[in-house]
Amino acid sequence: MIHLRDVARVYSAGETAVHALAGVSLDIDRGEFVAIMGQSGSGKSTLMNIIGLLDRPTAGEYRLGERDVSRLPEDARARLRGRGFGFVFQSYNLLPRMTALEQVELPLIYQGAPDRRRRAAEALVRVGLADRIRHVPTELSGGEQQRVALARSLVVNPLVLLADEPTGALDTATGEELMRLLTALVDEQGLTVVLVTHEAEVATHARRTVRMRDGRIIEDTGARAGARAGGTAS
Ligand SMILES: Nc1ncnc2c1ncn2[C@@H]1O[C@H](COP(=O)(O)OP(=O)(O)OP(=O)(O)O)[C@@H](O)[C@H]1O
Ligand SMILES: [Mg+2]
Repeated sequence: MIHLRDVARVYSAGETAVHALAGVSLDIDRGEFVAIMGQSGSGKSTLMNIIGLLDRPTAGEYRLGERDVSRLPEDARARLRGRGFGFVFQSYNLLPRMTALEQVELPLIYQGAPDRRRRAAEALVRVGLADRIRHVPTELSGGEQQRVALARSLVVNPLVLLADEPTGALDTATGEELMRLLTALVDEQGLTVVLVTHEAEVATHARRTVRMRDGRIIEDTGARAGARAGGTAS
């Protein structure tokens, strides 16, 4: 589903150029659960931003399904991004005065979707928060807040969930709980998850681990046949 070929991303910072991605080729199938690991500055977030259509490669090719999305203009990218991708970050980015239910309804309001209340409530049930839907963020634990953020990104039924350090602000046990939840979503609902983490323990929940260094993929373990980094073009 996701096909990257020789993708580069160069940032110009004053006089110097930063090669955040220096030729990344990666294929991710529907229903995969992939962890991306690597030192700070190795290009993980840059890669996630490109996959999630928040950013464009400087060079190389990105195909999403059958479609070449490497050089789409911003409005077309925004449309595809809204339908195709859910994002979860280390910070939950919840709005302070809104209940869990209202936060999860927001993306549906932007889409003008029908049945918003019911769908938002269902998404909260999926993440195990049926009994917290009227709570505002200050009345929720960190793990619960992260699950509200997860429900908010899942409510639009994205093809791919992109999670950049989602357990970064959680204690170990709460992080484990979140990872079990993601595993269940992959196994039971066929969600595709790409997750960035520093913690080896967290990465063990993923089926496949991609390791980056200096803007390159240096290792890819557990990939399905035909879907591995640097594999032959398909
Ligand atoms: N907007 C930008 N302008 C210039 N350089 C940038 C920009 N964003 C990132 N970089 C540089 O690109 C490189 C890769 O950054 P990236 O954020 O992808 O790393 P990362 O692997 O996500 O690191 P971390 O684990 O710390 O989040 C870094 O050297 C960083 O300084
Ligand atoms: Mg990062």
